[in-house]
Amino acid sequence: MVANNANTAVVTGAASGMGCATAAALAADGWNVLALDRVATTVEANGQHFTTTEVDVTKRDQVSAAIAAHCADSSDPVGLVANIAGIYPPSTLDDFTEDLYRKVFDVNVLGVLNVTAAAVEHMTAGGSIVNFASVDAFTVSRGQLLYGASKAAVVMLTKELALELAPRGIRVNAIAPGWVNTPGNAATGRMDAAAASIPLGRVGQPDEIARWVSILGSPDAGYMTGETIVLSGGDVIR
Ligand SMILES: NC(=O)c1ccc[n+]([C@@H]2O[C@H](COP(=O)([O-])OP(=O)(O)OC[C@H]3O[C@@H](n4cnc5c(N)ncnc54)[C@H](O)[C@@H]3O)[C@@H](O)[C@H]2O)c1
Repeated sequence: MVANNANTAVVTGAASGMGCATAAALAADGWNVLALDRVATTVEANGQHFTTTEVDVTKRDQVSAAIAAHCADSSDPVGLVANIAGIYPPSTLDDFTEDLYRKVFDVNVLGVLNVTAAAVEHMTAGGSIVNFASVDAFTVSRGQLLYGASKAAVVMLTKELALELAPRGIRVNAIAPGWVNTPGNAATGRMDAAAASIPLGRVGQPDEIARWVSILGSPDAGYMTGETIVLSGGDVIR
């Protein structure tokens, strides 16, 4: 996949899982990656080494400062944004708290808005934004009361932002993964059981999800905006 000539790619949640795989894939494609995470760390993935810049996506000032500093240093506009940072603590009507509600919606929804609003100031026509939703936006998952609602919000934000940014030539799409082999997910201890019920017989790998960020950010997807692609091995078919 070839990077377009506006070649900074902003990737959030880049210290782990699909964010890490995406940052590595985009760097291999030739993008100048600005890897953001609430954790500052050095990562090696798929032969790519990169350092994450410590940014909390719930803090608009931190996000704006990091993107502005990177663009000033590199003189590159932003060509691609991958909003991948997310949290998925379980919750039910019985055990949810106001604090947990705010945490989940702040990271998963406000975080997407903060990064998008900060990045579009540095984007030109041809740029693209890819948000991470989840199959839980479309089908119920027991014990994911707040998470499912937050990811449904991401699907709708993707549509609204696509409409709003279309006149500027900026496309906005989303990916809704099913079960993916990431550290956060492995911690649930439920992946083997999940694989048994997935039509393709396995959970997804971070790299194969990352590849779709490259595709959605490329001119090959230049006529697609406002869509959410489900990548679940047939677990959820819409
Ligand atoms: N793993 C799955 O199977 C799966 C399925 C569907 C959707 N998703 C979504 O895909 C995305 C990535 O999932 P993953 O499993 O790779 O995640 P992960 O838990 O492995 O990594 C998430 C990263 O986001 C970062 N992060 C969390 N809060 C942040 C904040 N406030 N500011 C900046 N960074 C922050 C974490 O530090 C971490 O590095 C998430 O949005 C998740 O909801 C995951």
